[in-house]
Amino acid sequence: MGYAFSENRYDKMEYRRCGRSGLKLPAVSLGLWHNFGDIDRQENARDILRLAFDKGITHFDLANNYGPPPGSAEENFGKIFKQDFKDYRDELIISTKAGWGMWPGPYGDLGSRKYLIASLDQSLKRMGLEYVDIFYHHRPDPDTPLEESMRALQQIVRQGKALYVGISSYHPDETAKAVKILRDLGTPCLIHQPKYSMFERWIEDGLLDVLKKEGVGCICFSPLAQGMLTDKYLNGIPEGSRARSHRGNGALEESAVTPEKIGKLRKLNKIAGQRGQNLAQMALSWVLRDPAVTSVLIGVSKPAQLTDSIRCLENYTFSDEEISAIDSILR
Ligand SMILES: NC(=O)c1ccc[n+]([C@@H]2O[C@H](COP(=O)([O-])OP(=O)(O)OC[C@H]3O[C@@H](n4cnc5c(N)ncnc54)[C@H](OP(=O)(O)O)[C@@H]3O)[C@@H](O)[C@H]2O)c1
Repeated sequence: MGYAFSENRYDKMEYRRCGRSGLKLPAVSLGLWHNFGDIDRQENARDILRLAFDKGITHFDLANNYGPPPGSAEENFGKIFKQDFKDYRDELIISTKAGWGMWPGPYGDLGSRKYLIASLDQSLKRMGLEYVDIFYHHRPDPDTPLEESMRALQQIVRQGKALYVGISSYHPDETAKAVKILRDLGTPCLIHQPKYSMFERWIEDGLLDVLKKEGVGCICFSPLAQGMLTDKYLNGIPEGSRARSHRGNGALEESAVTPEKIGKLRKLNKIAGQRGQNLAQMALSWVLRDPAVTSVLIGVSKPAQLTDSIRCLENYTFSDEEISAIDSILR
């Protein structure tokens, strides 16, 4: 007998349509970049995944290189999937990606057809899945013709190895080109995955407009700026936080938690309090305030953070005064 998930798991989650596709995603999705590698506690990882699904989070996001070591998050997810989730495959949206360095030599990085197709085959083996729901090109590759990367995505869908495809961290003009190529090939681009938070607002300069116009969904990663936009760094860097973890692979570093950032966090924290939220909840609500955002893609290092963060869904409307007060702090 597998784990008994809550029968009410769909009652409290909001599901938003992904662009103009037929697919809906939970307004809060869970990413496995950190906390699911071989260096992490597997019981904790399993508790997080169980709690997420119990709360109606139907979307788990992975990539070939998540760990550490690279590949281990997919392997560990695969083990937990087999134990707890295999009877629920049709209730889940599982994504993976390729685009960052994964294996040595010229074929384990960037955007060639060779790399993307081989990498997804490896990911499916590691997770023990027949297909993923969404496969992403993880970052633009300036040296591979865009047509080649997009044709590889199309082939992956034709082969039944992914149901939908997406792109991540593509700039607005590259996005518009990729969307057109994919549409012409008959495999629409479902979704874009950009970094977006109160501290990282680049998508407001054109990308969101392209996505709205083209009917492509948007799932925002690192919405808490890797944990900075919470109350944990208000008085410095605590033990056990990601900034102290020295995980490498792009994880938040102590040097990023500057006195200037801490000053902003304290001011934002006050506004959150006035809204009846904590800072993490307000930061996530703020990302969800724009209906062009399909989902906010969170990470958590323990189940209690998930219970806390998901309460962002209780209030994601902001008054004009709140928006301008937040803007003036962030400026
Ligand atoms: N496409 C891409 O290139 C790309 C890049 C990066 C990430 N992603 C995706 O986005 C996902 C999320 O990224 P992220 O982990 O950076 O997201 P995030 O939500 O900005 O940061 C997550 C971290 O914040 C802290 N935290 C979360 N909730 C909290 C709460 N309620 N109170 C206090 N602290 C809290 C935890 O860190 P502590 O360890 O300090 O507790 C947690 O691990 C990834 O797993 C991945 O799926 C994609």
